[in-house]
Amino acid sequence: MSLWAKHEKIEKNATLLLVLSLVVVSIGGMVEIAPLFYLENTIEKVKGMRPYTPLELTGRNIYIREGCYVCHSQMIRPMRDEVERYGHFSLAAESMYDHPFQWGSKRTGPDLARVGGRYSDDWHIDHLRDPRAVAPESIMPAYGFLEQTPLNLEHIADDLVANRMVGVPYNDEHIANAKIDLISQAQPDGDNSDVDALIERYSTPFGIDPEAPNVSARAFDRDPEDITEMDALIAYLQMLGTLVDFSDYEPMADANLR
Ligand code: HEC
Repeated sequence: MSLWAKHEKIEKNATLLLVLSLVVVSIGGMVEIAPLFYLENTIEKVKGMRPYTPLELTGRNIYIREGCYVCHSQMIRPMRDEVERYGHFSLAAESMYDHPFQWGSKRTGPDLARVGGRYSDDWHIDHLRDPRAVAPESIMPAYGFLEQTPLNLEHIADDLVANRMVGVPYNDEHIANAKIDLISQAQPDGDNSDVDALIERYSTPFGIDPEAPNVSARAFDRDPEDITEMDALIAYLQMLGTLVDFSDYEPMADANLR
């Protein structure tokens, strides 16, 4: 019987086709799934990762609300062209506190996983007000209204609670101080602000030296008077991809080979 005739037999017999398909899928499944049970960890431990501060978290909520993810991904793949353009490829740990994650699958605009620190706050303000002012060919919508929209602080503690329920390690202190921490980060010179307490809360519990913190506090929209949605969004953008300390990072694959 020729190979073709054998295949014809399978194709014409629904039960045989089903059974053989099942066998093929099971082998494929085993090859893919079994190694996962032998990995110690699928998220490597890295220095510097911490949950988002309340201001960054609200900025992230605005990012999601405005659908920025429709045009922007947040995952740098480990390929040369990507790494040369955007920086170190994204680590699993970098999105471990993202619920939901923002990897995205569409890049109408550039990947934003490491946009933090690439531009000044002024650049972001100009760009969000009118993308064409800084990138003449841009098709990105303008978001200037964020500057006129006061940030709603009412639900920030609840937001931390919700994140804690899905595994983000916020403790009772973080939740009790959510509102004041948010104000301290956006108005560090405000009467009630306590930046040192904010830094302490988002350093020590996560193994970060409070003398070398990765939280920055300032009037992100340049206006210290009001806390606006622009403050929150820029605080979020300027933090993206900057948390992990890559100076002593060792890829897990290399470590396992030794
Ligand atoms: C319709 C698609 C679209 C949407 C929606 C969109 N962008 Fe963009 N974005 C672009 C394009 C295209 C560019 C590249 C040109 C430019 O710089 O404006 C860009 C560039 C950027 C850059 C500069 C990135 C770099 O590395 O140069 C940032 C930051 C940015 N967008 C943030 C945002 C944020 C925040 C939102 C949501 C509030 C958003 N974008 C929504 C299309 C979009």
